[in-house]
Amino acid sequence: MSRIYGGLTILFSLLHIASSASVAINRSGWSATADSFEPGNEPAKALDGNASSLWHSRYSPAPVDSLPNWIIVDMKSTFNVHAVSIQPRPSSNSNGRVGSHKVEVSTDNSNWQLVALGTYNNDATTKKTTFVTRRARYIRITATSEAQSAANQWTTIAEINVFHDVVDSTPTPYTPPAAGKGLWEKTVDFPLVPVAVSLLTNGKLLMWSAYARDNFGGERGYTQTGIYDPGTGESTQLQVSNTQHDMFCPGISLDFNGRVIVTGGSNAAKTSIYDPAGNAWIAAPNMQIARGYQSSTTCTDGRVFTIGGSWSGGRGGKDGEIYDSTTNTWTKLPGALVSPMLTNDAGGIWRSDNHAWLFGWKNKTVFQAGPSIVMNWYDTTGSGSTTGAGNRLDDGHAMNGNAIMYDATAGKILTAGGSPSYEDSDARTNAYVVTIGMPKTNPTVSKTQNMAYARSFANGVVLPDGTVLVTGGQARAKPFQDTTAALVPELWSPVTGTWTQLNPMAIPRTYHSVAILMPDATVFQGGGGLCGQCNGAPESNHFDAEIFVPPYLLNTDGSRRARPTISAVASKARVGASLVVTASSGVIKFALIRFGTATHAVNTDQRRIPLTPTVSGTSYTVTVPADAGVALPGFWLLFALDDAGTPSVGKMMQVTL
Ligand SMILES: *[C@@H]1O[C@H](CO)[C@@H](O)[C@H](O)[C@H]1NC(C)=O
Ligand SMILES: *[C@@H]1O[C@H](CO)[C@@H](O)[C@H](O)[C@H]1NC(C)=O
Ligand SMILES: *[C@@H]1O[C@H](CO)[C@@H](O)[C@H](O)[C@H]1NC(C)=O
Repeated sequence: MSRIYGGLTILFSLLHIASSASVAINRSGWSATADSFEPGNEPAKALDGNASSLWHSRYSPAPVDSLPNWIIVDMKSTFNVHAVSIQPRPSSNSNGRVGSHKVEVSTDNSNWQLVALGTYNNDATTKKTTFVTRRARYIRITATSEAQSAANQWTTIAEINVFHDVVDSTPTPYTPPAAGKGLWEKTVDFPLVPVAVSLLTNGKLLMWSAYARDNFGGERGYTQTGIYDPGTGESTQLQVSNTQHDMFCPGISLDFNGRVIVTGGSNAAKTSIYDPAGNAWIAAPNMQIARGYQSSTTCTDGRVFTIGGSWSGGRGGKDGEIYDSTTNTWTKLPGALVSPMLTNDAGGIWRSDNHAWLFGWKNKTVFQAGPSIVMNWYDTTGSGSTTGAGNRLDDGHAMNGNAIMYDATAGKILTAGGSPSYEDSDARTNAYVVTIGMPKTNPTVSKTQNMAYARSFANGVVLPDGTVLVTGGQARAKPFQDTTAALVPELWSPVTGTWTQLNPMAIPRTYHSVAILMPDATVFQGGGGLCGQCNGAPESNHFDAEIFVPPYLLNTDGSRRARPTISAVASKARVGASLVVTASSGVIKFALIRFGTATHAVNTDQRRIPLTPTVSGTSYTVTVPADAGVALPGFWLLFALDDAGTPSVGKMMQVTL
């Protein structure tokens, strides 16, 4: 019965995709104005359907009208718009190509709403920026830097188009976001597809794709990386080659000092470390076993354990090994066996040891919660050992599902979705709570409500209030395709054990998508694709993210709530220490959330610790859990929450041994 129902759901989504299309609005009669133009290169040239004629900011006589430059398009009537495309001038001349930018919309040419910002790559392809539908008559594009050189001061655009959704040649009516269901506030454009991300100790987000910004393959020895600054919306770009590591499809873990340990992938034996303190990439020794699609986790003694990864570096035999940064060595753990954690993938061993759900836990152990039916404990001492931990009740193999430690103090992990095989496989809606306690003992597993949407390649993010946001994914696992994508996120409550459907996002996020909690308690949901030229729809590259504002930050009218504030807290605390926090009055609880890293549905770094304070005026005292297996050392965000669950902005702090 459930198979038939799943099939119908897929059929309906296919029908929906077939009849709904993103269509450029007819520009007849439109006008454009700009802050500056060169005679002969008037703003209207960006609307004339001739890619050889362009709007150009004034360049003679010197001095030029320097950046920022803006152009406003007047569509003469109001439309329900969801995308704007910018076609750069022909590739023979790259002067003035838009790099960093803002896109705003307005119904009256006076009140503007920011719908997108970010940084476009320096190339001649048309950039289409997609966002959640807004009512708009006017579009304002502001260029804040030139793509080819930040020092240049020109702006050029050959063509601007604006898009709306059309079903059977009728524009889709406007549906405002439902109250209380969160807001997909804005889109952020990037010069690369963010396939892997890590939060950094400066509050910025490190991201990377592969050897190319839009493609992968081979062992190229270099990686396209970027750093996104949520404060400005802009991104820097850097090709990293000094570690000779194509870091596509890696394992990622944050160590005790917030350094990003990146292992394997396309250059399958390599290890690279990003040190935010020096903004430097450092080469570490090769792993003993080459890997791609392995997972890794930091352990209670600071070493980093990894297992699995037959996607590259040869197939099979990917038992555990561990990296010790004090001796700078990788050591095999022949007793940490990969065989018990294999799934029964139709693709064989190439797929069946991929993306383990690992959690560093007490006394140098690692708990593996999936995606295999069987769960396991790995002990990382000596030569390693493996202890079976039972099944997730009736769940099947759940490749590319999610596992989120939403309450580390209580050992609670939510698992959701996944599919029996990596590709061409129907995803599940299944969700479970796995409660771990003493190492090497079987966890307690209970079933919680199933999700409304079956998801593989989704992302799971624990929020400060203890709810878990699951976003993206698709009902039938099809790498690189956006078919059967779930646009509706679901929020799981640990109190009720139920899921709530939230407002849909604009952009499908399937294979190679990532989501991560940002310090301001919003969620970054980005990436997807990395198929180079791709094969046309439904395959596409997503050079962007959407920023989700969870319901806990919003009033019912969509405006932002007043938030608690943390004015002072120590920058470091030992495990077991009392922590005095000065915060606004009315705070009833706190939460620590460890910095996240994400790629391929895996985030082994995030975990949450709920904290109940003792209160004296605006001075609150909380106690960091004493066990490093719970309060895993490293960088965390401390949030204060009021009685409505509204979180403060997270304060960064380091938990130490
Ligand atoms: C756009 O609208 C104009 C004026 O109504 C019409 O002449 C033209 O054919 C339309 N263009 C397209 C591509 O539909
Ligand atoms: C397109 O613009 C170029 C540059 O201004 C001009 O030379 C050309 O004649 C235009 N083409 C058409 C069809 O108007
Ligand atoms: C920690 O694990 C070791 C084996 O690796 C064991 O001998 C020891 O008893 C454990 N300690 C605790 C407190 O469980």
